Amino acid sequence: MLSRIKDIAANLAPRLIEIRRHLHSHPELSGQEYQTAAYAAGVLSSCGLRVQELVGKTGVVAELEGTGEDQRLLAIRADMDALPIQERTELEFASHQPGIMHSCGHDVHTTVGLGTAMILSQLATSLPGTVRFLFQPAEETAQGAGWMIQDGVMEGVDAILGVHVFPTIPAGSVGIRYGALTAAADDLELIIIGESGHGARPHEAIDAIWIASQVITTLQQAISRTQNPLRPVVLTIGQIHGGRAPNVIADQVRMLGTVRSLHPETSAALPNWIETIVANVCQSYGATYKLNYRRGVPSVQNDSALTQIVELSAREAWGSDRVQILPEPSLGAEDFSLYLDHAPGTMFRLGVGFSDKPNYPLHHPQFHVDEAAIVTGVVTMAYAAYKYWLHGAYSCPI
Ligand code: NI
Repeated sequence: MLSRIKDIAANLAPRLIEIRRHLHSHPELSGQEYQTAAYAAGVLSSCGLRVQELVGKTGVVAELEGTGEDQRLLAIRADMDALPIQERTELEFASHQPGIMHSCGHDVHTTVGLGTAMILSQLATSLPGTVRFLFQPAEETAQGAGWMIQDGVMEGVDAILGVHVFPTIPAGSVGIRYGALTAAADDLELIIIGESGHGARPHEAIDAIWIASQVITTLQQAISRTQNPLRPVVLTIGQIHGGRAPNVIADQVRMLGTVRSLHPETSAALPNWIETIVANVCQSYGATYKLNYRRGVPSVQNDSALTQIVELSAREAWGSDRVQILPEPSLGAEDFSLYLDHAPGTMFRLGVGFSDKPNYPLHHPQFHVDEAAIVTGVVTMAYAAYKYWLHGAYSCPI
């Protein structure tokens, strides 16, 4: 089966590069992926899949039925949105949309999803179970997975696979991570309310700027002294506004920040932990506060049995020297985690780094990918899908 998958992928390679270049030059922002979705739906229909459009706002769902011997349903997820970044790559197929760019590689993810559908549709008579392809919008704003789930895409799904490109892994290699892959990411809005007064008479006022500085300092110190250092927490205040004049004590400071954590228990406890510190500092100096803690996406926790299936598929396909077991997670966020509330899943990292020129990080205006990675991605995904059924119940040790 592996050699059949590899042969089909090799034949499809020029077409896949064409698809990826088309997507790259026509990027769309989160929630506006109309052309991308229509294009993906066209490719999927031409492979004979049952396609549903406008799922989760601008998402596409396509099903490929296997022989039905295995009732389990496997989902494969690809995200389609681009970022509000002006491309500076000078590629001949660079973005045609001013200020919008596929600099997170979602054009590659969509291509890998489509390529996997093309391969598996040619092997449908050998597939024991059904695959549901999820082409989701708005991953960058962490909304798309929620929209898709609300529209029922996870109903009946037994396992889900995902992929994200990674420029520090060379093209042709795959990164595998057991356990936490990405962090939980929450948003924080904090308003410190004091009392205004003359800059020369601090005892008659409650200085919101000074109290805000105490709150920030205490939170950062408390992370180091009260959080388990083996369960990281990052709290970044990225915006702060307060005060009107150099000689007037500020009565209000507004701060916006992001909070990242990896361990689900830590993540669950963070809102109360932060509020206790804020309340205590404010109370000590007579200020009040308003705290608005918004849950974002949870941490992606890769299921170990499914991760093992992907790892073994990649080792068999590419050899062990092209499979990296990633020792560390990322503190970035990924809304793939929302699907994992409904079924176990795993996301692997697809190396897209060039070996002979500089690579740029994700979200960089010069981010580029070595397109040799596309075949690596589709073969790994298609073979892992096949192996999923081959290995019986997903929870059985392989
Ligand atoms: Ni991304």
